[in-house]
Amino acid sequence: MALVKGTYLVLGNWKMHLTRDAARHLARRIASANAAGVDVGLAPAFVHIQSVREAIAGSEVLLGAQTCHAQPEGAFTGEVSAPMLADMGCAFVILGHSERRQMMHESDAAVKAKAEAALAQGLHVVLCVGETLGQRESGAYREVIEGQLHASLPDAFDRDRLTVSYEPIWAIGTGRTASLDDISAMHAHIGEVLASRQGGGALPRVLYGGSVKANNALDILSLPVVDGVLVGGASLDADAFTTIIGAAGASAQKR
Ligand code: PGA
Repeated sequence: MALVKGTYLVLGNWKMHLTRDAARHLARRIASANAAGVDVGLAPAFVHIQSVREAIAGSEVLLGAQTCHAQPEGAFTGEVSAPMLADMGCAFVILGHSERRQMMHESDAAVKAKAEAALAQGLHVVLCVGETLGQRESGAYREVIEGQLHASLPDAFDRDRLTVSYEPIWAIGTGRTASLDDISAMHAHIGEVLASRQGGGALPRVLYGGSVKANNALDILSLPVVDGVLVGGASLDADAFTTIIGAAGASAQKR
């Protein structure tokens, strides 16, 4: 059975935030917010995975992580492997987030190796791609995204095992979102690249990420090419995140 079943996928990336109690409390609030046709997932820091697992037990919320190592085990101080995440009950893992690509110098090849490792454990991969402001302004951003996809996608993937998240780096944590036209154009482009790589069948979902908030989620989710959102800052606020889930639910009714 497919992990992601609904029309929309709404993911919260908690990054390096929250104490254990705050994570538990927030997870409980989110677990009580249901919307038909919407799958919700949370990616807490590694140390909070168990607490969040307990807090969302019995709900439909999917548990995830923000990265993993490409090797199943070994002398890699500070790292966490895909088998460990699967063992902890994680259903998905975010890979290639721009913060990891930029701050941790993760290359496309490294992201691909992680994606292969995650898929081998049955984890659903949420693969992030995005261009910098300089790349956007140079006009070459379509090629940048295409290059990232070709070099970081696993060799074999499908809709049940992989989701792509388009996250323009200049929109992350800046309060500046891509325009609806920009999002539509890039999502369509990503769809073409995915189609060229996949032998056939339903293409992976494409999420948008980058300053998604309670007040812009409905517009973004109403775009026909948007299959959900990856939310950073606003996922730390129960009211904002549940409003975004509600917006996805409202859009799902119209599709
Ligand atoms: P943001 O982060 O919603 O705070 O812009 C998005 C992300 O990094 O996935």
